[in-house]
Amino acid sequence: MEIARATEIFDRLYADVPAYEIAQSEKKRMGMQDLSTTYGEILPQAFHEVLSAVSPREGEVFFDLGSGTGKATLLAALAFPFSRSVGIELLPGLGDAARQVLGRFDAEVRPGLSPEYQQRKIEYLDGDFLRYDLSEADVVFAHGTCYPHEVIGQLGVKLAELRPGSRVVFVGHTFDTPELKFLRMMLMKTDWGSALAALYERA
Ligand SMILES: C[S@@+](CC[C@H](N)C(=O)[O-])C[C@H]1O[C@@H](n2cnc3c(N)ncnc32)[C@H](O)[C@@H]1O
Repeated sequence: MEIARATEIFDRLYADVPAYEIAQSEKKRMGMQDLSTTYGEILPQAFHEVLSAVSPREGEVFFDLGSGTGKATLLAALAFPFSRSVGIELLPGLGDAARQVLGRFDAEVRPGLSPEYQQRKIEYLDGDFLRYDLSEADVVFAHGTCYPHEVIGQLGVKLAELRPGSRVVFVGHTFDTPELKFLRMMLMKTDWGSALAALYERA
C-alpha cells in the first residue's frame, strides 16, 4: 500500500504506546543500563525511503534486529511486499507492547485490508538477535546507533551467513565484513535526530 495510507494506520495504532517509558522501566527492571539498549524509533517516511533503496521484492522476508515496539516491523509489512516480517527485541516489555499493537492490527485493521494482507506474517521474538537464525532473511534492518563495537563485530560475522543477494540496512555503524558488499550511505531521520544508514548486499 502507499506509504501515506500505511502511515495513517501506523499513527493510529501507535498513538498511545509510551515506548520510551516502557524502555526505561524495562532497563531498570532488568538491570541493563548499558548503552546497547538506548531507545529510539524510526520515522515512517524516512524508513520507507531507506528501505526502498534496497528494493524489497514480492515474498521476501524482513527482519528488524532490535525491534522495540515493532514500528519498523509493522511498517515493513504494510508498505512493502514482504511475506513475513519479524522483529527481535531484547527487552520483553517492548516485545509485549509490539504484540499488543499487532493484536489490535489483527482485530481492527487487517480484516478490512485486501487479501494479500491477510496472508502476511508478522512476528515478534524475544531475546538477543545474535542467538537467532537469520538465514531466512532477505532484508535485515538494524537501528543500532548505540550497539557496542563487540556486538557490531559479532553481528558482522552473523550477517555473513545470509544468502547471497540479501540486503542489510544498518543505521549508525558500518561493517567491514568482506562478504557484505557496500552499496551506499543514506542520511535517515529518526525520532531522535539524523543518522547514517549503511546499505549492503550479501555477495
Ligand atoms: C534504537 S532502538 C530501535 C527500535 C526499532 N528498531 C526502531 O527503529 O523503531 C534499538 C533496540 O534494540 C534493542 N536491542 C539492543 N541490543 C539487542 C540485542 N542484542 N538483541 C535484541 N535487541 C536488542 C534495544 O533494547 C532497543 O529496543
